[in-house]
Amino acid sequence: MPHWDPNQYLKFGGERTQPAIDLLSRVKLAAPRRIIDLGCGPGNSTALLHGRWPEAEIVGIDSSAAMIAAAQETYPEWTWTVADIAGWTPDRPYDLVYSNAALQWVHDHESLIPVLFSNVAPGGALAIQMPAHFQSPVHRILIEIATHDEWRDLTATAAEAIKVGRPSFYYDLLSPLCSQIDLWETEYIHHLPSHREIVEWMRGTGLRPFLEVLPDEDMKRLFEERFLTALRHAYSLQRDGTLLFPFRRLFAVAYKRE
Ligand SMILES: C[S@@+](CC[C@H](N)C(=O)[O-])C[C@H]1O[C@@H](n2cnc3c(N)ncnc32)[C@H](O)[C@@H]1O
Repeated sequence: MPHWDPNQYLKFGGERTQPAIDLLSRVKLAAPRRIIDLGCGPGNSTALLHGRWPEAEIVGIDSSAAMIAAAQETYPEWTWTVADIAGWTPDRPYDLVYSNAALQWVHDHESLIPVLFSNVAPGGALAIQMPAHFQSPVHRILIEIATHDEWRDLTATAAEAIKVGRPSFYYDLLSPLCSQIDLWETEYIHHLPSHREIVEWMRGTGLRPFLEVLPDEDMKRLFEERFLTALRHAYSLQRDGTLLFPFRRLFAVAYKRE
């Protein structure tokens, strides 16, 4: 589990929050009273929930103390808790169990997703979004560099840190339990000024587990340099010298019968 840096994460706050907006816009619940935001990070996704349902009782949980501290500082009037999604056992169900860009860090979805759905109240919903970019150049490059001889043993577990199944996997898990399920994927085309910004983007999320297991600054620098060189070959520049960084994401909203 990497250590999170709220400032690094929010460098691309607008781009990272757009999928949270898109997920929320597809939740067809009129007035959920109890809502949980699992892996709330610095509170950007939770703020959307408060904006749509100002009367609801909303809790944001995250395993990173730094993220919860950032959320608490920005939104001191709301409820935040440091907790691990993997061990989350609420005493009462929630009308909406919402999670944007966090469940990919939690393993064993085969067990996890039914547990999360069991904590949805009748008439409520589970709404989740996770990256689905595992065939993309940026992910393939990261894994390729991580398997170079000099650090392959160190990065083996980091390469396993993020796991997301295909839409059919989530359909098979949720459809026997729910009354309706909406599944979709969206590829966001992020517009970045340079290849270095892809590295910056990844420093906020997917690159973290790899850099954290490398023992010293020289090795971290070498890893990032190789990553940047490979990105320059994989993503061509537009005519104006900027680049497009496509990023695919998977969404699911599953409803529980009344
Ligand atoms: C990419 S951020 C998402 C933040 C926010 N939900 C958003 O929409 O931008 C992922 C968050 O998931 C949290 N996280 C990862 N694994 C977790 C776990 N097992 N339990 C709780 N939070 C976790 C991280 O600490 C991080 O804040």
